[in-house]
Amino acid sequence: MKKLSEKISRIPPSATMEITDKARRMKAQGKDVISLSIGEPDFDTPAHITEACINALKSGKTHYEASQGLLELREAICDKLAKDNGITATPNEVVVACGAKNNLSEAMEACLNPQDEAIILDPSWVSYEPMIMLAGAKPVHHSLNLKTFQLDDTILEKVNKNTKMLIFTTPSNPTGSVLNRDSLALIKDICEDNDIIACADEIYEKLVYGGRKHLSIAAMGDMHERTITVNGFSKAYAMTGWRLGYSHAPLEITKTMTKVQQHTTSQATTFAMWGGVAALRGDQTCVEDMRKQFELRRNYLIGALNDIGYQTAPAEGAFYAFIKVDGDDLAIANRWLEEGLVASTPGTAFNAPGWIRISYAAGMDTLKEAVRRISEIK
Ligand SMILES: Cc1ncc(COP(=O)(O)O)c(C=O)c1O
Repeated sequence: MKKLSEKISRIPPSATMEITDKARRMKAQGKDVISLSIGEPDFDTPAHITEACINALKSGKTHYEASQGLLELREAICDKLAKDNGITATPNEVVVACGAKNNLSEAMEACLNPQDEAIILDPSWVSYEPMIMLAGAKPVHHSLNLKTFQLDDTILEKVNKNTKMLIFTTPSNPTGSVLNRDSLALIKDICEDNDIIACADEIYEKLVYGGRKHLSIAAMGDMHERTITVNGFSKAYAMTGWRLGYSHAPLEITKTMTKVQQHTTSQATTFAMWGGVAALRGDQTCVEDMRKQFELRRNYLIGALNDIGYQTAPAEGAFYAFIKVDGDDLAIANRWLEEGLVASTPGTAFNAPGWIRISYAAGMDTLKEAVRRISEIK
């Protein structure tokens, strides 16, 4: 057989794979492993959304749709962006795709050329780097200040004439922290001064705590002219398996992303998009109810971890506790798994060695048992 893709062979295997596989094997052996390594709400999709999808199926909404996405959904997204984010959008600037992940990869494909560099703010979600590499460009990592989890101007050392894009997520997976207005203002200045596209992953927008309000960089000054705002239904509406996400960007970028979509997935699933319309147009109490549950768990978990002596990143959003550990995070995550039967994700997977991520998308009793087990290992 001739050599397979060199581009793919350059992408490193996931640093989480080994420990995830091990946790799976241990579970298969009947061991009582608590899995806190997954990034998915443990709630079911609210019934009115599921019903809208079933009704769509029953009424024959089973055909191809516009590649860019169902117009009714793109209109609902524009209304949502205006109301929640202060972003003025028209449906032709929106792409609906098969999950925010799909929007993000289309954004990289649409914007990046081989000589281009894309800066990723670390600790970072695992897929940004491979997506940039798949688009043929060069990932450049820059770490946030790991005391404040904010950005400072040391990032300027990473900016050069080849810098095309700056990618960040707030609230963050893996840290749960939120970029404050100063950090966003710095990103804005850097992007405007150096003609850089901001790619703002806002998938955890609805999950913020302590009375915070989410800030969208595209609503700051003229940033909508150079920002790709990515969001979706997975986290806010517990719709991970629906594979439904969306983006808003200047028309030229959206058209280019749509071209990628036309030749790859064609479109998001038609009846899933009708579920998306119900999610955005329907009562938002379900979102707030889930957020409140996450906040209760977060208050318990962060407090309990701090009480047993662990330092944690500011837990302001998403559903992750990011825990400072003393030593090699891969080895410690392995010990937590082997000795405590708690599956976590080592920070190395997110370019943040010395930290471990656990998800609190799990019931309170499970979290209490996990803390008990971790405290006994320490
Ligand atoms: C930071 C971040 N962005 C994007 C995604 C992808 O979301 P979706 O399920 O909409 O593809 C995830 C999912 O884990 C995520 O954590």
